[in-house]
Amino acid sequence: MNKKISFSILGLGRVIEKRVFKMFKNEIKNGYVKTIFDIDKKKNKKYEKLFKCKAEETLEKFLNIKSDFIYIATESGNHFNHILKCFKYNRNVIVEKPPVLKVKELIFLNKIAKKKRLKFYTVFQNRMNKSVQYVKRIIKNEKIIFVDLSLIWSRPQEYYKDWHGKWKLDGGVLAQQGIHYVDLLIFLLGEPNKCISSIVNRVNKLQAEDTHSSLIIFKKNNLSCTVNMSTAFRPKDFEASINIYCKKKIVSLGGLCCNKVSINELHQNKNNFIKLKKFSEEVPSGYGISHRRVFQKIIDYELKKKNLPLNAYDSLSTIKLINMMYKSFEKKKWILFKEKNLISKLGK
Ligand SMILES: NC(=O)c1ccc[n+]([C@@H]2O[C@H](COP(=O)([O-])OP(=O)(O)OC[C@H]3O[C@@H](n4cnc5c(N)ncnc54)[C@H](O)[C@@H]3O)[C@@H](O)[C@H]2O)c1
Repeated sequence: MNKKISFSILGLGRVIEKRVFKMFKNEIKNGYVKTIFDIDKKKNKKYEKLFKCKAEETLEKFLNIKSDFIYIATESGNHFNHILKCFKYNRNVIVEKPPVLKVKELIFLNKIAKKKRLKFYTVFQNRMNKSVQYVKRIIKNEKIIFVDLSLIWSRPQEYYKDWHGKWKLDGGVLAQQGIHYVDLLIFLLGEPNKCISSIVNRVNKLQAEDTHSSLIIFKKNNLSCTVNMSTAFRPKDFEASINIYCKKKIVSLGGLCCNKVSINELHQNKNNFIKLKKFSEEVPSGYGISHRRVFQKIIDYELKKKNLPLNAYDSLSTIKLINMMYKSFEKKKWILFKEKNLISKLGK
């Protein structure tokens, strides 16, 4: 019989309901859910039936059931403690984005994972969008003049009534929604050098921000990127876009979650606008469709030693930049990537 990779799921909230359940049910090959646990008993009951597996009664019992991976989808600010617990039980971990909120937490957890030889992966699924993979290939040889990132999304006030928007557990539009696209900037452009940021609440009331603006300068060629992100738009998510302005063309990632790509070639007379259908995909929501690719890559690596999945530690620059952007607002000055103590209000 073919080996299948088993998963335990910790936390059965929105991301499971809106994306991960469907992925396990219909999309991935050679992987299945062995056990689940949420502190909310109703959710345990609901997903026991849906996943056709047993929900454990306590976290300790859950951690004692052996499976190939524990997938953590609890509140962002609780990831650190939950990962640490999993590591104590010598369990491999896949954690939803952001793996942790504080830079030193990621460094600490990575050391433990290495020492114990445990796998420690994270989910930044948009890196695996066809459009993003294509843009990464084609911008290598371009002379880039500048870049801009816009997130035009919508969250109603009631979204902020639980842990969302709180500094200790989440942060604002940058750390919850925008982080995907800041991660793409790093994936496409490399490490930043410095940033300066401003935050405000335009429409929603929350501890952190519903609207974030930054200027980021990257190490390579001192490239500048302007960033504007907000959840204050209505009535629904409109777009997440990254425009890369090159000397002779504009390369644009767009759609709800950078799932589409187009190129505008600049000419003396008539510009040539090309929609790249082959590398653009329709998505039902801002979650996109690439969770499947993240999980399938992990399964294929386990079974066939195919391409390495994204190690959580590979997102260190993203976690650093998020904290730099918040720290810049707090200190009202430019923050450098090389600073030793990249601590902001974000996290516990
Ligand atoms: N990759 C993506 O596109 C994406 C999208 C949405 C959310 N996320 C991430 O997923 C995580 C969860 O987000 P969500 O929107 O599903 O949140 P949610 O609040 O809907 O769900 C969190 C769940 O964790 C449970 N939980 C909390 N503490 C627990 C514990 N000690 N033991 C067991 N269960 C516990 C809660 O009861 C809740 O059901 C966040 O880190 C978020 O950033 C990722």
